[in-house]
Order: sequence, then structure tokens, then C-alpha cells
Amino acid sequence: MKATAIAHTNIALIKYWGKRDKTLILPANSSLSMTLDQFYTETTVEWSDAFMTDQFTLNGSRIEDTKVTRFLTILRQQFGMTEKAHVTSTNHVPTAAGLASSASAFAALALAASKAAGREDDDETLSRLARLGSGSASRSIFGDFALWQKGTDDTGIDSYAYPVVAPTELDLAMVVAVVDAGPKKIDSRLGMQSTVETSPYFEAWTATAEKDLLTIQDAFKANDFKIIGETVERNALSMHATTMAATPPFSYLKPASFAIMETVHALRENGIEAYFTMDAGPNVKVLCLTKDEQQVQTALASHTDQVYICHPGPKARVIAHD
Ligand code: ADP
Ligand code: DP6
Ligand code: CO
Repeated sequence: MKATAIAHTNIALIKYWGKRDKTLILPANSSLSMTLDQFYTETTVEWSDAFMTDQFTLNGSRIEDTKVTRFLTILRQQFGMTEKAHVTSTNHVPTAAGLASSASAFAALALAASKAAGREDDDETLSRLARLGSGSASRSIFGDFALWQKGTDDTGIDSYAYPVVAPTELDLAMVVAVVDAGPKKIDSRLGMQSTVETSPYFEAWTATAEKDLLTIQDAFKANDFKIIGETVERNALSMHATTMAATPPFSYLKPASFAIMETVHALRENGIEAYFTMDAGPNVKVLCLTKDEQQVQTALASHTDQVYICHPGPKARVIAHD
């Protein structure tokens, strides 16, 4: 009744930002992501009727985490089990810093929990399960590029991710500049909830995101990196605009984030195709072609000594089980 799984983080090129159902974690719009090879979570789950309570250990420390507790309760319902779980996890990514730790975390947890329960869930089911822990985790079940379709109804049955074909003629890289690895003040769940409830830009955002998704899918097929990059940048800034118009207004971006955006613009003026995106945190991810990744890294290194060159990463996998 014990299994260990690894899942990698993913960064959305077209963002998920806002739920239509908070309990089932159903998104207002579909999203599309790239899974990263450099950042991941490794999680071991053991189910046992000898355990009196659930336990969660993250990076060597026992902690109480409401998201994890809530998710284990959901998994018991889904699996028809009563056993409690001991969960031990290590993040090879900063936690709650806008680098998608919740994506790798809940994908690894869903997979390890399923395997430890003796189940053989397919990827679609695993994606649906991971979604119930954290929306972005639905996409981390898959490697390379994944699309989380928002789904058509209010049960969540068709709200899961699936792989999308990468642009066949483009070798993409994502260069990650970490300007602050500390935890955010407003977590993603709260930030998007406040946006949904109070930002007058929220409706415009969902309409924009759906259009951006169609645009980027066409650009993937056409191997048009300029359109891909411009769409990624516009989509990220549109998402961040929604938070600035919320009540109370807030932003995840810091002066260092804007300085890096300027550097990316300067790179483009010098003929290097590079485009930024940011999530619920100040760290900046720069999408470019592998042939330019070293030059992008050098440019970002003037802002921070923590720069990581990432490529499309692998799908979630079980690495050990009973
Ligand atoms: P991020 O930008 O890192 O995804 P979120 O605010 O979305 O930030 O999620 C952070 C939360 O995800 C943490 O507070 C914790 O509840 C959960 N989390 C992070 N890492 C793990 C892990 N390894 N196992 C279980 N839950 C985790
Ligand atoms: C900005 O998946 O972390 O990274 O579903 O509430 O756990 P919950 O939120 P989460 O939100 C991710 C927001 C984002 C964009 C994205 O990854 O699509
Ligand atoms: Co998250």
C-alpha cells in the first residue's frame, strides 16, 4: 500500500486564472502548458488502516497543510477507501513562489496515491484526480505540452488535460529567472478567487484567453514562433492586469520582474526571439529557441544568479511501489 511518484512542474503558455467551480476546481477557461525538465516533486504515499491520522512531511518537516488534507479526503471518496495516508514529499522547485510547485505536487500525489491504493488509473483519470488537488496539476500528468480543457458541464467529468503536439520544426526552451524563491503572500487560489469576485476585467480575461488558445494552437501547427511568443506575452500580461483591477488591487510582479521584461524586449531588438511569461509570483520565464538559450541566460544573469535553462520535461511516473 505504498508508492513513490515523480511529476514535473509545468508553466502555462495560456494561463488558467479563475474557477467556475471552487469545490471541483473547474476553470473558467482552457489552458495550455509546457512541462519543465528541471523542476519536479517526488512524493511517497502510504495508505494504512493502522494510521490514526493523515500525515504530511514536506522537505523533511512535518506540516499541516489544508490543501493536502482536503485532497486526501477527496481521494478517499474517489477511491472508496477509509485508510489514512502518510505522505512524504520533496520539492525540487521552490514552494509557493509562482514556479508551479502545486502543479508538480498534486500530480505526484495523485499518481502515488492511486498506485499505492492498487489502482491502475489511466492518464485521463489521473489528470482529473490531480485537478481536484490543484488545477494546474491536471497538466503535470503529461510531459512536453498539455492542454487542460475546461469541460462542458458542472460534474468535471470532461475537465482534464491531454497532450498536444509540439511545433514539429521548433526546439523550444524556457529560461527561468528566479528573482524571489520565497513564498507568495497571496496564494494562487486566493488570488484568482479575489479576481473572479471583484475584478471588472475578469470577463474580458476569459474571452481573451479562449482566443489566445486558438491562436497559439494554430501557431503551433504553423511552427510560427513569433505568433507563439507574442501570444504568450500578451496572455500573461492580460492575466496580471486582472489582479491590478481587483478590490483590493494586488500584483505578483516586482520591480525585478519589470526589469527582466525590459531585458527581453532588448533581446528582441537585437534579433533574438525571446518572450516572457509570469505566474502568481515575481519570477520570470522566458520562452525562446534552444539555439538562443545561452544568450538568453547570459542576459538574464545580469538580474539574478539563479537562471535555469529548461526544456520540455517528462510525464509523471511511478518510481517505486510495493
Ligand atoms: P505555486 O506557484 O508554487 O504553485 P500555489 O499557491 O499554487 O503556489 O501552491 C502552493 C501550495 O501547494 C503550498 O502551499 C502547498 O499547499 C501545496 N504544495 C506545494 N508543494 C507541495 C508538495 N510537495 N506536496 C503537497 N502539497 C504541496
Ligand atoms: C498563474 O493551479 O496553483 O500558475 O487550482 O487553486 O490550486 P489552484 O491554483 P493553481 O493556479 C495556477 C495559476 C497560474 C496559471 C497556470 O498555471 O495556468
Ligand atoms: Co500553483
